[in-house]
Amino acid sequence: MSLLRELTELVQSVFTAQGLDPSYGDVVVSQRPDLCQFQCNGALPLAKKAGKNPRELATALAAALNDDHRIALADVAGPGFLNISVEDDFLAEQSAQLTAGNHFGIEAKNQQVIVDYGGPNIAKSLHVGHLRPAVIGESVKRLYRFARYDAIGDVHLGDWGLPMGQLIAAIEDASPELPYFADGAATSEGPYPTESPVTIEDLEELYPQASARCKEDKAFAAKAQQATLALQKGHLGYRALWNHFRTLSVADMTAIYAELGVHFELWLGEASVADDMAPMIEKLVANQIAQESDGALIIDVADPKDKKELPPFMLQNSRGGYSYATSDLATIEQRVKGPAPHAIVYVTDARQSLHFQQLFRAADKAKMAPASTQLIHASHGMVTGKDNKPFKTRDGKLPRLGELVADAQKLAAAQIEENNLAEDLSETERASVIELVGLAALTYGELSNHRTTNYIFDLEKFTELKGQTGPYLQYVAVRIKSALQKAADAGLHAGTLGAATCDEERNVQLELTKLPEIVERAVAGNAPNIIAEYSYVLAATFNRFYDKCHILSEPNAETQQSWLALLETTQSIFTAILDILLIQVPEKM
Ligand code: ARG
Repeated sequence: MSLLRELTELVQSVFTAQGLDPSYGDVVVSQRPDLCQFQCNGALPLAKKAGKNPRELATALAAALNDDHRIALADVAGPGFLNISVEDDFLAEQSAQLTAGNHFGIEAKNQQVIVDYGGPNIAKSLHVGHLRPAVIGESVKRLYRFARYDAIGDVHLGDWGLPMGQLIAAIEDASPELPYFADGAATSEGPYPTESPVTIEDLEELYPQASARCKEDKAFAAKAQQATLALQKGHLGYRALWNHFRTLSVADMTAIYAELGVHFELWLGEASVADDMAPMIEKLVANQIAQESDGALIIDVADPKDKKELPPFMLQNSRGGYSYATSDLATIEQRVKGPAPHAIVYVTDARQSLHFQQLFRAADKAKMAPASTQLIHASHGMVTGKDNKPFKTRDGKLPRLGELVADAQKLAAAQIEENNLAEDLSETERASVIELVGLAALTYGELSNHRTTNYIFDLEKFTELKGQTGPYLQYVAVRIKSALQKAADAGLHAGTLGAATCDEERNVQLELTKLPEIVERAVAGNAPNIIAEYSYVLAATFNRFYDKCHILSEPNAETQQSWLALLETTQSIFTAILDILLIQVPEKM
């Protein structure tokens, strides 16, 4: 049980013993750490409700709390608030308990969470716009895992829309002799060449060209439309060509995402529900969930209570084509086929808010997912330059994701050089440190902001070794690691984590015991920034303790062993939460 939970239960039992409503007994971390560690603000409203004198009531409650062996001091503050501080040995016990069992005492949820993130469109290169959904999504997934959900990530590729038809039309135009376009290819199983007729570089060039051409060349645009429709209706030649697009893109994306520490369990996409959309729509029509409107099929998702009218959800356009919306609805149906997931979390740009509002309404109307499955749009804002406009390179292009990683590493290398770090390491070790530091700079720069705010992409700031940055956190983690190493080298070992001997030490213990509630809050808001903030506070609090208490030269063996235990506990919690932020700790730094 977390410290806060235990204190809440204690206060509740005191309330109950005095014949008061225990639901007012919530204990929270103190807003005024200079006065007390915890507070309970329920006595005042409770007294008002019961028509009692608030200070008198609070005084009686404080007296009862002071009788408990865990409480160092409970007193009345202001008009009737309770200030509470705990005994040092109780706090030490609570801190030690965090790492005594497995998983920091967090119970397995045995429930699945699907995180839909990344969402790139195939045949297009990954650029700065893909940074946020990738990093936030990966972090949210790791956060759920930390909270012991069975979380999996699905990249949900954009692999089934008009751009696919545009590419097919462009390739047919340039090389009509290819077997994918031969007479009868629509229904021919092939065999088709195993080698792709185009490379990933070709595709990345063709994609913008073809889409630009569609704007000027009506005949080509019509061909692209037809090709899209034919692909969606099962043209086998096109399917074979499309398979090449997909394979090439997935290989390319996997490598770039891996550089960021982003990995997907599922590489599904819009196309994975290609054959499910027609039967789904049929069912929706039969059940009178979907209806015809101007030749199209829609679901009316408006609610009279809406402040702004929600436009209908488009299932099928008047030409018989399916849309982004259709595949997303079919994907919900696909995702809930097994045991009902606890949640499906979509990490995408806030500009898609309307789409997800409509989608969730449609899913609700169609009873697509069980009521116990939460559908969540964890939206994010933009990455901007210092001018607060969307981040671009000097020549006005969108920087590629790989370039951003390389830039971060360049700056990380400069920082490491400047601060004379990693000096005694071999070339390969040093390169690995630079890689990890560059990455941490990037991911912490991203995750330290709440996902919905826009943030300025300032790599110089992100790579700094001081302040609230990824490299600073790594530096502290390495400091803990090498302190433990030095102790081990000197034949010293951790003992029982004991009562704090000074404020700095007590503060580390207090910070550590906040972990369970911090994780709960971060999960509830799908908000890794709460973990980012906490990791910084923990690092800074630890550093103050480490500067004050000189472990190796401490004469009292019991104190020394207790400090080493505190180091170990801090290390295991700190590394675990850094992992949620996609930060790895270098061996040395
Ligand atoms: N491919 C989409 C885009 O580029 C993002 C996909 C997000 N996920 C989803 N299930 N809609 O905008």
